[in-house]
Amino acid sequence: MAENAYVAPAGKPVPGVSGAVADSRIPALQLRGISKAFGTVQALEDVDFEVFDGEVVGLVGDNGAGKSTLIKIMAGAYLADTGEIDVDGHKVSLNSPQDATRAGIETVYQDLALCDNLDVVANLFLGREEISRFVPFLVQPMNEVDMERRAREVLTQLDVKIPSLRTPVAALSGGQRQSIAVAKTILRNPRVVLLDEPTAALGVAQTRQVLNLISRLRSQGLAVVVISHNLADIFEVVDRVVVMRLGRRVATFDVRNTTTEQVVGAITGAEFGLAARQYGDHPAAEGAREQPVTPAAPTMTAE
Ligand SMILES: Nc1ncnc2c1ncn2[C@@H]1O[C@H](COP(=O)(O)OP(=O)(O)O)[C@@H](O)[C@H]1O
Ligand SMILES: [Mg+2]
Repeated sequence: MAENAYVAPAGKPVPGVSGAVADSRIPALQLRGISKAFGTVQALEDVDFEVFDGEVVGLVGDNGAGKSTLIKIMAGAYLADTGEIDVDGHKVSLNSPQDATRAGIETVYQDLALCDNLDVVANLFLGREEISRFVPFLVQPMNEVDMERRAREVLTQLDVKIPSLRTPVAALSGGQRQSIAVAKTILRNPRVVLLDEPTAALGVAQTRQVLNLISRLRSQGLAVVVISHNLADIFEVVDRVVVMRLGRRVATFDVRNTTTEQVVGAITGAEFGLAARQYGDHPAAEGAREQPVTPAAPTMTAE
């Protein structure tokens, strides 16, 4: 039971929690009523989501819960079947990753999309040269000196330590590569950064680097969404945890007054008594529940 940990989505009343105040600020990014099906699989069902400036939200849930699908909708990689997306309170259409970039939303996927044989500077500016090619007489391509200066600035701003800007990224550690992928997004001046499993492939020290980096993004006022399987990481770096299960958002916690057990309970459904009762609501769910917890449709399977 997570009554004291319950945080209402912006603008919504807080059911069953005395003293809690719903946030009246406008989210940097807000999704409402998002549904998405792949054939007969309902990957997302009427999902609301919000992240504020200077906030890190952890998106957690079992395999197949719908986390990546939700992130891809925020990133413009998938189109939702229903629902609305607002950036800064203004409705946006995210029909492509370019639309998301224009709206100030950048995503770092697990595969990082770096070119191993190219050096740090080349990777940071990869894909940006084209902009100047369209208007060659108006905008000169950034020269190597400018790119190196800008690369140094952004890495300093993020406190990322790299042996040399001219090192091929293949020679860097996993944590450094993750940092380069994040720095690459920062060069586009986003206001929302989405990270899908940023520490999954990393050891302890490198995980530390990436968690520090996420903290720095927050302290610079960015809105950050992190998907992670690692609840220890989540608890260290996030402000709120949003729990997905079988395509629905089932709970939200403020990490300051939440235990890992409560979050695990929401992920597995044990908190709502679903382990014991497959169908219907459970009294223990009152307060922590945001949407009615309905049993999985026969076509929906957790992986
Ligand atoms: N491109 C796709 N085609 C078909 N089914 C998909 C696709 N992407 C995701 N799914 C399904 O949607 C559900 C949610 O998946 P996903 O968003 O990847 O969950 P998570 O990231 O939480 O593990 C799963 O049942 C998954 O099999
Ligand atoms: Mg996923």
